[in-house]
Amino acid sequence: MQTVQDAAALRAVIRGWRNQGQTVGFVPTMGNLHAGHHSLIKLARARADRVVASVFVNPTQFGPNEDFSRYPRTLVQDQVGLAEHDCDLLFAPEVATLYPFGPEGSVSIHVPQLTETLEGAHRPGHFDGVATVVCKLFNLVQPDLAVFGQKDFQQLKVIERMVRDLSLPVKIMTAPTLRADDGLALSSRNQYLSADERALSIQIYATLRQMRDLIAKGHARAVVEQAAASKLARAGFEPDYAAIRRAEDLAEPADGERDGLVALIAARLGTTRLIDNLLFD
Ligand code: PAF
Repeated sequence: MQTVQDAAALRAVIRGWRNQGQTVGFVPTMGNLHAGHHSLIKLARARADRVVASVFVNPTQFGPNEDFSRYPRTLVQDQVGLAEHDCDLLFAPEVATLYPFGPEGSVSIHVPQLTETLEGAHRPGHFDGVATVVCKLFNLVQPDLAVFGQKDFQQLKVIERMVRDLSLPVKIMTAPTLRADDGLALSSRNQYLSADERALSIQIYATLRQMRDLIAKGHARAVVEQAAASKLARAGFEPDYAAIRRAEDLAEPADGERDGLVALIAARLGTTRLIDNLLFD
């Protein structure tokens, strides 16, 4: 697997593939890769002739209280994992390559409505940073398809909306969330959990399943959400939200609405913030 840092080198390799009529699948990441990321590569591998991954810790999606400088950077280890999973090309640009006018001077993409709730409400500006960097990466790589994990469900919806609204010629594919045997969704953040916190963390997936079951039994949404948040708080979490939304647009479903729903949880355990979701269908 080849690694390139600059846009011209990236474009030259991809142009060579295009000239041979090959399709390109793309997996954008911030590095510190684990089996969850590798499953995205696997899906891209199955659907495209060539696979490009990016590793870029994007400064514009971190809030002032979120530590951009301390985000784990494990490029050598990431390269080994990507090569093992048959990735063809890694794009690992410097900040100046993606932000030639600096992060503050950058054009910013704002996807309205979808970003005003849930993660967007708790992390103001986060999705502007995500949409902006993903759009820049799409322009550089110009992939036929790009793969995102269902684990970051709201992010997936924001990207889908941006692609549709800006008529970007890329197909967005979703890879299911990978879980540990006990149900915890794989995430780079799991490494920060103490042994006690790790044992407690399985409550998140258990609570999501309980929310689904209670809605199926006809309980009111607001009651189910409140019960889920209280249960997590009693177990030692600080929940930001435990919500049931329409999967399509993250709008609040009407009472009695049962189809096409998703439950989403964000909760802090000690200093680690965990998110997860469960589609009801
Ligand atoms: O999900 C991530 O790792 C990031 O938000 C993404 C999509 C690579 C943009 O920086």
